[in-house]
Amino acid sequence: MNIISFKTYFYKELSEVYPETEISAFWTLIVEKYLGLDRLNAALYPEKEITNTVHIALKKVVARLQQNEPIQYILGETIFFGLPFYVNPTVLIPRPETEELVNWILTDIELAKERKTTHILDIGTGSGAIAIGLAANLPSALIDAIDISAAAIQTAIKNANLNKVQVSFMEQDILSCDKLTKQYDVIVSNPPYVRNSEKKQMQANVLNHEPQTALYVTDKNPLLFYKKIGELAYKNLLDNGLLYVEINEFLATETAELFEEIGFKTTEVKKDIFGRNRMIKTQK
Ligand SMILES: C[S@@+](CC[C@H](N)C(=O)[O-])C[C@H]1O[C@@H](n2cnc3c(N)ncnc32)[C@H](O)[C@@H]1O
Repeated sequence: MNIISFKTYFYKELSEVYPETEISAFWTLIVEKYLGLDRLNAALYPEKEITNTVHIALKKVVARLQQNEPIQYILGETIFFGLPFYVNPTVLIPRPETEELVNWILTDIELAKERKTTHILDIGTGSGAIAIGLAANLPSALIDAIDISAAAIQTAIKNANLNKVQVSFMEQDILSCDKLTKQYDVIVSNPPYVRNSEKKQMQANVLNHEPQTALYVTDKNPLLFYKKIGELAYKNLLDNGLLYVEINEFLATETAELFEEIGFKTTEVKKDIFGRNRMIKTQK
């Protein structure tokens, strides 16, 4: 089979599941990964033959996409903050809004122009996205990261190696931890915050394929992680230390109030590029 015949098959098979713009984005990624061609060259050489082995692999990709499996899990990789990351179903696929959180922290550290070593902790690191994004841009920072999932920690370690950065990863359940072992200048977290009642608005690719422990909380106690992280951060941040969190856009006021009740002196809610309340910075 040649490229153009497979492309026709690819678009046809996926047309009932995805809009054309999305199929087109998948096509670009697939062609690059499996044929080693950019989109332009794939278009310039439509008659180029696809080997049997590649053809079989590509048909499996189509079947997985038809099951709404995220393209990033199928390819086993994604880009976060301009850096390559391995991803698999044990880790959340890092999101663009989390890039904005990393950027906020880096901008603040740059503005502070402090020469001392910054000690940073990332709670619920998953693929290591936040910790590694920071480490790649702050060569002198000392960065720790924790997650409850041993499989996620394994992936995060691979990602730190891939990006040639130093992060100290630990497997730990934050909810059953009374005190952190060190004092930090910055603590950051993107914890689980999607209420079970919000599941019905989620797309099948997220709902059926991304890890439940990374995403969901009960409707009864949706700020469980923020309370625990706020209390731990209040104990383990240095004076004037900063806690940054990604938040549920519908719970911004409640989350900010919670940090103020714990004792943090200032709290700032920040919107993402779409104008949604998506992150908070609070200072001890
Ligand atoms: C929303 S994901 C964020 C992943 C990554 N930091 C990112 O931004 O892409 C939340 C992460 O918290 C971890 N997590 C859930 N419960 C936890 C707990 N009790 N203690 C530590 N980590 C936990 C999950 O395994 C998951 O990796």
